[in-house]
Amino acid sequence: PRTDQEKAKWAAGTAAVHAYVRDGMKIGLGSGTTAHWFVRALGAAVSEGLDVVGVPTSTGTRDLAIEVGVPLTMLAEVDRLDITIDGADEIDHDGAMIKGGGGCLLWERIVADASDKMVAVVDGTKVVDTLGAFPLPIEVIPFAWESTQRSIARLLTRLGYPEPDLRLRTSNGETVITDSGNYLIDAHLQAIKDPIALDGRLNWIPGVVENGLFTGVADEMIIGSASGEYEIRD
Ligand code: A5P
Repeated sequence: PRTDQEKAKWAAGTAAVHAYVRDGMKIGLGSGTTAHWFVRALGAAVSEGLDVVGVPTSTGTRDLAIEVGVPLTMLAEVDRLDITIDGADEIDHDGAMIKGGGGCLLWERIVADASDKMVAVVDGTKVVDTLGAFPLPIEVIPFAWESTQRSIARLLTRLGYPEPDLRLRTSNGETVITDSGNYLIDAHLQAIKDPIALDGRLNWIPGVVENGLFTGVADEMIIGSASGEYEIRD
């Protein structure tokens, strides 16, 4: 880690191994740059004899876990996971989150839902009073995505929010495609008035597979700081 934010992400991700992981656990492995440090630290612990098995929340995390030696399984093979450790783009003081900045929200939500406990690993910049400054990702199936986007836009306009955008790669302008072959629509909400209601209304729209509002999912959060220290909040 080089920047202060990277150091804080490192602190949160690595601390999660010592704070939560025990021998024999089945663990959901989050995605993104903070969860990255968790998976790396977990790999180091496995090489020292820790006996765990992981379920990745993205192809990127799967590749990293293989690289650092974390044994993997699939949700089809196990009943429940003991814990999932994953990052967040924003988290409020009640633990409601915006996730999916890296486009992995669908697998992340399924894996978190299959877990007895979910811990968010974040740096202090992610903790907010009100969710919404970070664009809310909405995963939609490619079939008739324009129509789905219009339905989302109608809902958001009714609620007083601006129209959402299809996510494109900044490098070449191509449509971003998720690990499940879907597209992402980003909603610019600034301040989300009622996250639980919006979560439900978005997921009711045909063509929407999932959205990045994770309410009632995180049980605890680890907030890392640049000095290498961390704080656990529940
Ligand atoms: C991936 O789609 C996300 O949900 C990540 O967990 C989230 O974007 C946090 O990522 P960083 O730890 O890289 O900020």
